[in-house]
Order: sequence, then structure tokens, then C-alpha cells
Amino acid sequence: MSQSHRAVAIDGPAASGKSTVAKRLASSLGLVMVNSGAMYRAVTWELLRGGLDPGDSAAVVQALAEMDIICGIQDGLSTIAVNGRQLGAELRAPEVNNNVSKVASVPEVRECLVAMQRDYLQDTDVVMEGRDIGSVVFPDTPFKIYIDASEEVRAARRSKDGEADAVAARDAQDSQRKVSPLKISEGAIVIDSSDLTIEGTVAAAREALIQLGWQD
Ligand code: DC
Repeated sequence: MSQSHRAVAIDGPAASGKSTVAKRLASSLGLVMVNSGAMYRAVTWELLRGGLDPGDSAAVVQALAEMDIICGIQDGLSTIAVNGRQLGAELRAPEVNNNVSKVASVPEVRECLVAMQRDYLQDTDVVMEGRDIGSVVFPDTPFKIYIDASEEVRAARRSKDGEADAVAARDAQDSQRKVSPLKISEGAIVIDSSDLTIEGTVAAAREALIQLGWQD
């Protein structure tokens, strides 16, 4: 991990509000926000586009070796392109939601994407959100926040967004997998956003950072 740049790690289950909070926090602190889930989604999207079975680990590993994945930054947010195509809204498609946890459980996929996530720190300070950012990607950062919300609240948030996403099933897979499961990493401050507004959650995250020793 680079000593010159700082990483704020924000982990939590699906639809806990961590992306929105990470985005606002990054923008208010002048840092780049990196959405690590988009990387797992991009690989999943490309596998599905190629007609591959995301549950076939050997096929996933072989396809990954041939994928040209480019991570970038635009307007303070991470971007991702696969095989020359910049990906955005398609990453939220129901078939991606349904298959991404399988792809994210393949160790070779994690190894490849974790390296790209760490690379961001070569160039800039980041707020990175995901499942294993505090535990695996940046275990040495003192700035670890875990954002939670009840299962009911999270399911309601997704359906309000008009998204078909079985968050409970995805969380079960993400928490039970062998490699880098979703968990509260040691030293993380936990924020339960169930009864908080977005502004309230962002304020709680800022307070948590200060408590963890953040200095602007
Ligand atoms: O944050 P998200 O819901 O967009 O993430 C999509 C999936 O990617 C999630 O179900 C599990 C996986 N993921 C992961 O395993 N590790 C991360 N750091 C981020 C996401």
C-alpha cells in the first residue's frame, strides 16, 4: 500500500446506502470515489454477453485472462471499460444482479480486481466502497467504516429504485463465500443507516472519520 495516499474503506451489504454515502463523502473531502462492486459487475456483464456460465469457475478464469479491463477516473468517480466498451447502466441489469456473487467468489477474479483497486492509490486518495475493502484491499488503512441497514430497509430501497435485486440472497452468498467474505473488519466503525436519511448517514460517516483520526 502506498504511504503517500490515503484510503477510506467503506464496506457493507447490498443496498445499505454505502455507494451514495461514499460518493458524497468523497466529493466533500475532494477524494476520488471508487465503486469496487462495479468491477465485479463488469466482469459478470462481459461473461454473460459472451454466453458463458458464471457458475463455471474454469470458464470464468479463462475468459478473465482474455478480458481487457481498464479502470479510470472521470469527474471524481471510478470508471470501468471492458474490451473497449465503457460500462454504466447495464451493470445494474437483473441478470448481473443474479450472477455477480458467483463471479465474485472466484479467487482469480478477486486477485485480479483487488490489484486494480490497489492501483488507484498510486495516483490519488480514495473513498472505496465494497465488501472487503477494509479487510483485504486496504487492511492497513485506519479509516474503516461499515454501513449496515436492516434487511427490510435494504429490500425496500432497491425496489424503490425499480431494481430487481434479491439482496438477501446476494448477501448470503457474499458473506458465506470462502474468499474475502463480507464482514466487519477490525477497527471499523459501524453505522446503521436503517433510520437515517442520506444526509444523516453522511454526517455520521464524517464523524466516524474524525474519530478514526482523519485530518483534512
Ligand atoms: O456493491 P455492489 O452491490 O454493486 O456489488 C456487487 C457484487 O460484487 C456484490 O454482490 C459482491 C461483489 N463485491 C465483492 O465481492 N467485493 C467487493 N469489494 C465489492 C463487490
